[in-house]
Amino acid sequence: MALDLGGRILRSRTVAALASPHGIDRYLTQINPMLAAHEVRARIVDIHPEVSAPGAPRVATVTLQPTSTWRGHRAGQHVSVGIDTGEGRRTTRVFTVSNTESKPGDPLTITVRAHDDEDATPYSISKYLTERATVGTLVHLSQAEGDFVLPHHVPEHIVLISGGSGITPVMSMLRSLQRRTHRGKVTFLHWAPSAERQIYAEELEEIRGQGHGVDLHIMHTADGAPYLSPALLEKLVPGYRDLPTWVCGPESLIEATQAAYDGTESLHVEYFKPPRSGGVAGGEMTFSTTGKTVANDGATILDQAEAAGLSPEHGCRMGICFSCTANKSSGLVRNVLTGETSELPDEQIRICVSTPEGDCAVDL
Ligand code: FES
Repeated sequence: MALDLGGRILRSRTVAALASPHGIDRYLTQINPMLAAHEVRARIVDIHPEVSAPGAPRVATVTLQPTSTWRGHRAGQHVSVGIDTGEGRRTTRVFTVSNTESKPGDPLTITVRAHDDEDATPYSISKYLTERATVGTLVHLSQAEGDFVLPHHVPEHIVLISGGSGITPVMSMLRSLQRRTHRGKVTFLHWAPSAERQIYAEELEEIRGQGHGVDLHIMHTADGAPYLSPALLEKLVPGYRDLPTWVCGPESLIEATQAAYDGTESLHVEYFKPPRSGGVAGGEMTFSTTGKTVANDGATILDQAEAAGLSPEHGCRMGICFSCTANKSSGLVRNVLTGETSELPDEQIRICVSTPEGDCAVDL
């Protein structure tokens, strides 16, 4: 009660006016980094290795104790994690929350695969979290976001499909259903490269052993497991097209699933990474502010800008954080997540998920 009252006072307009222009959180963090009135920060309280197979990227589950400002999450949602890389620069990446649904102030977990291909100089966030961070390290968080979630009333039989690291939101769903003691049936199909690279291997074995309505199929492609196809789905989940289904994984898995479900509304999709392909090459991409023009190769505008030597501001690279928003002065762009096109002049676009079609000019 006292804490709640204190929180309300700290969030009041009077305190905001007194703390202007920096905001109350700037002062609170000097006293204790885990005190916050608006922002969300978190302290790492555990780092658990999931995969450390030779030659495979390291994967670890990181447990975070957030500030009391954390509002909790629904299974399937994601969070932006930011670290300060020095020189006043903060780099953010988006990770799915992998534990069961959480309430305000509850700890949360993210499962992170160390990627080489992030450009977050001087180090990538995923490598930082899996290789350099320690218990006690502080990170910045957003509130949980995203509508790739289970409904409050879960249908009698649902299908979960995931590939590689796309298992994290699906595991959050499965864990939450088990905690809710869901009485229905869950068919869970997962593709991973090999047994050594299988995330949550022990827990999945336990779930398989328990039964409890979970029909689990793990496919390891290195062992010759079949890829997703309508025939395989029909064999493992007869009548699958009519069943509410959630799929998260790489572009190839999502495309195969979408083709198999053939436009039914029962399919809910979350790309683990936004599709990089699909843009149409041709015409010229102009970066008006810097006066650079390149041949449009069909990649996202952020990728093309970086290839041209520019360093536009960005965070998640997934269309979530809006930090890459820039003004498009002319041209037609396609949103790679939704397929929607737009050719309004002077519109604000997220360049990480927009590909130009033909001539296009953006103020970068
Ligand atoms: S970088 Fe986050 S929306 Fe583009």
